[in-house]
Amino acid sequence: MRRPMMAGNWKMVCDNTAAVELAGGIVADAGQTAGCDIVIAPPFTALSAVNEVTADSPVALAAQNMYWEDSGAFTGEIAADMLLSCGCEYVILGHSERRGRFGVIPDGFTEELRSVFGDNDATVNIKAKAAVAAGLKPIVCCGELLAEREQGMTDAIVSDQVRAFLAGCSDAEFNAITIAYEPVWAIGTGEVCDGDEANRVCGIIRGVVAEVAGQEVAEAMRILYGGSVKPDNVEGLMAQPEIDGGLVGGASLKADSFCTLIQVAARN
Ligand code: PGA
Repeated sequence: MRRPMMAGNWKMVCDNTAAVELAGGIVADAGQTAGCDIVIAPPFTALSAVNEVTADSPVALAAQNMYWEDSGAFTGEIAADMLLSCGCEYVILGHSERRGRFGVIPDGFTEELRSVFGDNDATVNIKAKAAVAAGLKPIVCCGELLAEREQGMTDAIVSDQVRAFLAGCSDAEFNAITIAYEPVWAIGTGEVCDGDEANRVCGIIRGVVAEVAGQEVAEAMRILYGGSVKPDNVEGLMAQPEIDGGLVGGASLKADSFCTLIQVAARN
């Protein structure tokens, strides 16, 4: 049995005052929730302050990114040990908002789909290994663009991403990793992927994990769905057998809606 996880990705929202208040609301409610791992990912700047609130609670902290080097002249970057010293247990890697997949963007869509941060499967692979070596658990994201879905490329794109970011991983790395399937067109749009279809793609991902890491690892690997998860659609997603939880942006920014999502995930 895989333990469900509900992870809130706060993105570039919340100064320290707002972050502490939101974390306090989640801790107050989430304290009663057994049966689900609860993760919140505030901005880097709020991690220490939020850690003061979550430290003795069931709510775990995640960062939204990291760099793979231990320390050095890497202006603007954050190392795994720095995240650990702020109380982080998890790190989100390869979120679509950080990926730059210019090669597959069709003519005419360049500006809408552009990502300026430049993560890709190769950097995510290195970051995931560095994270696990330091003692962090990566939540690694994959998902197709709308244009890729429309061209029937979803399964191939997502499979290639998973194969690439898991390349050369050890058993310890496989065991620490959670995968999040996040169709790019569903993120922040209010347009959620249908539960059956999300389940189908998560099943494809599990198949790829089995291919590269073996059946036992694949059965144990948690696969989350992300993209416009809300209190009014979460039941249908969490009821799906291949979906082990959610990675949530907008609906994680209010304590009451996030706690509703946690409760539903915990029941499934
Ligand atoms: P959303 O974001 O829930 O606001 O669609 C999900 C994500 O980016 O992880």
